[in-house]
Amino acid sequence: MEESVQELLRAARRAIVEARRDVKALEQIRVRYLGRKGELTQLFKQLAGASENDRPRFGKLLNEAKLQLESGIAAALGQAKKQEHSGKEQFDVTVPGRSPVRGHLHPITQTALEISRIFNWLGFETVEGPEVELDYYNFEALNIPRDHPARDMQDTFYVSEDVVLRTHTSPLQIRTMEKRRPPIRIIAPGKAYRCDSDVTHTPMFHQVEGLMVGENISFGDLKGILTIFVHQMFGPDVGLRFRPSFFPFTEPSAEVDIQCVMCAGRGCRVCSDTGWLEILGSGMVDPEVYKMVGYDPEEVTGFAFGMGIERIAMLKFGIDDLRLFFENDLRFLRQF
Ligand code: PHE
Repeated sequence: MEESVQELLRAARRAIVEARRDVKALEQIRVRYLGRKGELTQLFKQLAGASENDRPRFGKLLNEAKLQLESGIAAALGQAKKQEHSGKEQFDVTVPGRSPVRGHLHPITQTALEISRIFNWLGFETVEGPEVELDYYNFEALNIPRDHPARDMQDTFYVSEDVVLRTHTSPLQIRTMEKRRPPIRIIAPGKAYRCDSDVTHTPMFHQVEGLMVGENISFGDLKGILTIFVHQMFGPDVGLRFRPSFFPFTEPSAEVDIQCVMCAGRGCRVCSDTGWLEILGSGMVDPEVYKMVGYDPEEVTGFAFGMGIERIAMLKFGIDDLRLFFENDLRFLRQF
């Protein structure tokens, strides 16, 4: 009996090695030795015929052999399965990579940066100021008196009696002139707020303010600078016109229209069949404003302008609904 068991174990171990981590072959070995008709199982059956003396010893021998075989096959199977699994995880280094999705700037930010780039190139420095603003800077110093309709509760978000959310970026004209002496050339991009909400108005929007003050600066300079800007922004063939207008802080004042970028001036829904689109307000700084900041209106002249960034972006990108800028739908934003 002892020899049979030793012989069986030796053969089984050899078979396990020869199976070379092949799961199927290992399963077959298990059946061959430990199955219901397996070789070791057969030896167990011989126990019944052994003498009373030998039976306990043989029993122990067989049980040990069984445990050894079981653990040997289990270990080999474990290795085999691990290898099979890791084979699946191997990857093909020649497969082209998937490029990660890159974020990009919001079209409003892109447009603001493009406007800044053009004016910086013309020698204008970019400045910033607070969105929560004193009534004084937003209105008073800009020659907008207490009873002016622009201060109507319907338009202005009041924080308190003297504090508002700025309704335009024009307070930067005052803040800059208070701090500096001419010559001044600045632009001020940023957010503005008005209590207004419909298809063409949002309570928060973006503006860029411009200011140029010095000696002998004329309306001709205003026209020249803004013409260069329009041609840089929309192309050298886009026509523009200066239309008389009114602002409390400029005199004379003009609004600038450009030829409709959708229909090239022929007339369409976007330009209400006029062929023209208004893009900004401008004018020569009013002498009253110089007095507020301690400049002598006899010595300095200059011009200011203000434009809505959303409006410029809509015309530049051909977008006909302002609200798209604020919904943050990625299908929209990814197009820029
Ligand atoms: N602040 C004006 C507005 O919001 C625009 C403007 C700025 C007009 C500077 C003239 C000069 O409508």
